[in-house]
Amino acid sequence: MFTLAQETDQDWWEVEALYDLCFAPGREALSSYRLRDDVPPVTGLSLVARDGQDILAGAIRYWPVRVGTFEALLLGPVAVHPTHQGEGLGGLLIEESLSRGVDFGWDRVMLVGDAPYYRKFGFARLGDVIMPPPTNPERVLGRELRPGAWHGVAGHVRSFAEEA
Ligand SMILES: CC(C)(COP(=O)(O)OP(=O)(O)OC[C@H]1O[C@@H](n2cnc3c(N)ncnc32)[C@H](O)[C@@H]1OP(=O)(O)O)[C@@H](O)C(=O)NCCC(=O)NCCS
Repeated sequence: MFTLAQETDQDWWEVEALYDLCFAPGREALSSYRLRDDVPPVTGLSLVARDGQDILAGAIRYWPVRVGTFEALLLGPVAVHPTHQGEGLGGLLIEESLSRGVDFGWDRVMLVGDAPYYRKFGFARLGDVIMPPPTNPERVLGRELRPGAWHGVAGHVRSFAEEA
């Protein structure tokens, strides 16, 4: 029913419009966006889902971040058009993109989001990882793409635009 494809430059503004529709106004004021400023999204991981009429139904993007000296994927934004929510597309976008992330050699992924939703996909609270304020620490979640990959990873999340 849905076709998943890597996001292209031509998709960019359509995906932005979907995010504007799905998120509260002012989404770009969130601290997670400061980690995306001046940093390109991760090549090959951002996906779009189109329905049978080729209409954009969902999208997911990733940016690279640093936690201490370690690299991690920052998942998001992910959104599904309201007419397609609850059909499993959010989960499909998350699992398919993370499976590609594993293939590309990424070890760990984090996000800021609702634990009751992301826990279904193996995400758990990252107690030692600190997002820029203002972020509710309860919403800082991670998942290992390689066993043990979050073990011993702690500290402030920094932008890839900063020096390593
Ligand atoms: C969150 C979102 C991407 C989920 O996409 P989706 O395709 O509807 O999700 P799925 O079909 O995979 O899963 C649906 C299930 O998740 C639940 N769910 C959705 N959002 C949830 C949330 N924020 N907290 C807890 N559960 C949630 C639904 O109730 C549903 O539960 P059920 O399977 O028991 O009926 C989509 O609802 C969306 O775009 N929301 C607005 C943007 C947003 O909040 N993005 C996430 C940022 S943290």
